[in-house]
Amino acid sequence: MALPAHTSAQAALVRPGAGLRAPFLEAAYEYRDAGEELDPAFPAYWNASFEEYVKQLDDLAQGRHLPFSMVRSDTFWLLSGDGRLIGMSRLRGRLSRSLRIEGGHIGYTIRPSERRKGYGTRLCALTIEEARKTGKFTRLLITCDTRNTGSARIIEKNGGILENYVISPRSGRQVSRYWVTL
Ligand SMILES: CC(C)(COP(=O)(O)OP(=O)(O)OC[C@H]1O[C@@H](n2cnc3c(N)ncnc32)[C@H](O)[C@@H]1OP(=O)(O)O)[C@@H](O)C(=O)NCCC(=O)NCCS
Repeated sequence: MALPAHTSAQAALVRPGAGLRAPFLEAAYEYRDAGEELDPAFPAYWNASFEEYVKQLDDLAQGRHLPFSMVRSDTFWLLSGDGRLIGMSRLRGRLSRSLRIEGGHIGYTIRPSERRKGYGTRLCALTIEEARKTGKFTRLLITCDTRNTGSARIIEKNGGILENYVISPRSGRQVSRYWVTL
């Protein structure tokens, strides 16, 4: 039996592209209405052209013109079966000293209206798969605020093994650090 288009099992990763301006901005407005930001590291889509934002993501993926303290990273968008942008993940090419404490190799976010439907778990799984395909990683660090129960569950369901807790130098909050072996 075919799954309905809105199930997380049908959601797929795509690379950023200028052709996805409409679904991206539709999701970005939802984040903004909820007092959040879809891509806080690169909010250029609000004050530059969307093409410029996509170019910044391509530069980030190629390691060109990296903003201070950022490392080369791939960005993925999670699209539902009916073409809505459900979330975004970032796969970092290496760990800087700061990412080793907090941030890790993979970060992800799901749009507010689609949370608690399994999308976060799938987005993390698909991003781990992308990392595996590169052949460059033997294990991946994924971290979360210890109080972020949803994110901790996502990491554990994707095979994350807790290494330790540290205190974030940025927020002063406790961070849980997990490793996923590929
Ligand atoms: C954290 C986040 C990615 C979770 O995404 P999601 O799509 O809701 O996750 P899932 O639906 O796959 O849920 C995974 C598990 O976490 C649980 N969960 C999700 N949100 C939860 C919450 N707020 N409180 C308690 N449990 C929660 C789910 O019930 C599920 O548990 P189960 O498998 O035992 O049933 C999402 O809330 C988000 O984008 N938050 C803002 C950005 C963020 O925190 N990113 C992570 C940075 S480390």
